[in-house]
Amino acid sequence: MVKRRILIVDDEPGVRESLRMVLKERYEPTAAASGEEALRLLTSETFDVVLLDILMPGLDGLEVLERIKEQTLGSQVIMLTATKTVKTAVSAMKLGAFDYVTKPFDVDELLLIVERAVQSAALVREVEALRSEVGLRYSFDSIIGNSPKLQDVLKSVSMVAPLKTTVLITGESGTGKELIAKAIHYHSPRANKPLITINCAAIPENLLESELFGHERGAFTDAYVKKPGQFELADGGTLFLDEIGEMNPATQAKILRVLEQSEFTRVGGGQTIRVDVRVIAATNRDLHQGMRDGSFRSDLYYRLNVVSVHLPALRERREDIVPLIHHFLRNKARDLGIPEKAFTNEALDLLMQYSWPGNVRELENLVERSMVLSHGATMTRDDLPQYLQTGNGHAHPAQQCVLRGETRLAEAVDLFEQELIRNALTQAQNNQTRAAELLGTTRRILKYKMDKLGIVEPG
Ligand SMILES: Nc1ncnc2c1ncn2[C@@H]1O[C@H](COP(=O)(O)OP(=O)(O)OP(=O)(O)O)[C@@H](O)[C@H]1O
Ligand SMILES: [Mg+2]
Repeated sequence: MVKRRILIVDDEPGVRESLRMVLKERYEPTAAASGEEALRLLTSETFDVVLLDILMPGLDGLEVLERIKEQTLGSQVIMLTATKTVKTAVSAMKLGAFDYVTKPFDVDELLLIVERAVQSAALVREVEALRSEVGLRYSFDSIIGNSPKLQDVLKSVSMVAPLKTTVLITGESGTGKELIAKAIHYHSPRANKPLITINCAAIPENLLESELFGHERGAFTDAYVKKPGQFELADGGTLFLDEIGEMNPATQAKILRVLEQSEFTRVGGGQTIRVDVRVIAATNRDLHQGMRDGSFRSDLYYRLNVVSVHLPALRERREDIVPLIHHFLRNKARDLGIPEKAFTNEALDLLMQYSWPGNVRELENLVERSMVLSHGATMTRDDLPQYLQTGNGHAHPAQQCVLRGETRLAEAVDLFEQELIRNALTQAQNNQTRAAELLGTTRRILKYKMDKLGIVEPG
């Protein structure tokens, strides 16, 4: 295991040396004789913990502490104080010091505090690393799709993300609503504050209100203790209300009040609580239908719908299918720790023609399933589920060309017509009147089409 690094800052050589002796078995200590030297070291190297003397000539401990905190260097600082400077140590705590120890030290106590600070520094670093990883995961680059429809979505998302505007995200199941909600949060000034997701369909109707707004003790039979709601916990951040179409009208009314006045009361409580929360809502239901049958309040609808983002179904943007497949092939290989695999062109054709009722989620699951269940580095049509191999497998080659983006629609239609006419002519043994009958048209129109498409009469 790597030893954690500790910076000892004290102007007295004796103190530096004894601290080094005490710490060197478990940690990797470095010593600095002044505040200036400490700051120099801190800008070029990383330390988990800084042991910082308060009284030093030149820059004193408090000034060094302030600089460290300003520059958010990620180290935890423990102040070293003589008994007479304990008061100063307390004000150091207010400036963000982790703790303080009084000289002369009790070795066990010192080691205990250092270890706690080391753990805390590791935690802070971990949280920072996770946060930037999460941010990357929801960066726009990880939302795949070049179709004009998805690009339009991303354009409006990047415009509203930095504002506090309420956003309503609609789209069929699996189209990426939650992914977009997260991208909005992580591209807003609230990115370092909580993003809380509430799935309104997953919480029993009678509990949803107290989940959102909290309750006072005794508000209902099971409310033994007072409990804050998600609106309070999300203060300063974002609340994502997923499947908002499932919320009952009474709760909808309370949501409307928070959106309009930034305040609410807990269930069974009279006190008004103010919060600063951005709301993003999503639904795969038709809220217009809900308004017509009275299950969704129209005032809330218009309040939520300030900006709405509609995610088109995958079958309406087939050009995104192949890029998504490649994205998932790469990511799943990494996540599952297996070598990358690829689909044969024939398998890709089948995937592109399928209707994807479960949208991107279904595609993602299918890619993962195929990778796990297939042998070898290439996956053929036989590695696809049966329903994909049949049913859709008979699409016309011209259709495949269009879907792959190799041919324009008009050309494909011409090709298709040519082929039909040739087949009809063959079947009618080149009798044009009969061929026209087979095609359900007149001989004149058939002749016109043959000329236009460059089909020469045999013989
Ligand atoms: N454009 C995209 N690029 C990359 N991954 C995507 C994209 N769209 C969706 N996904 C992935 O597909 C899966 C389903 O997306 P998500 O959960 O956001 O859908 P949803 O619309 O919220 O579905 P539901 O309505 O069922 O809750 C997720 O794993 C998500 O990361
Ligand atoms: Mg969802």
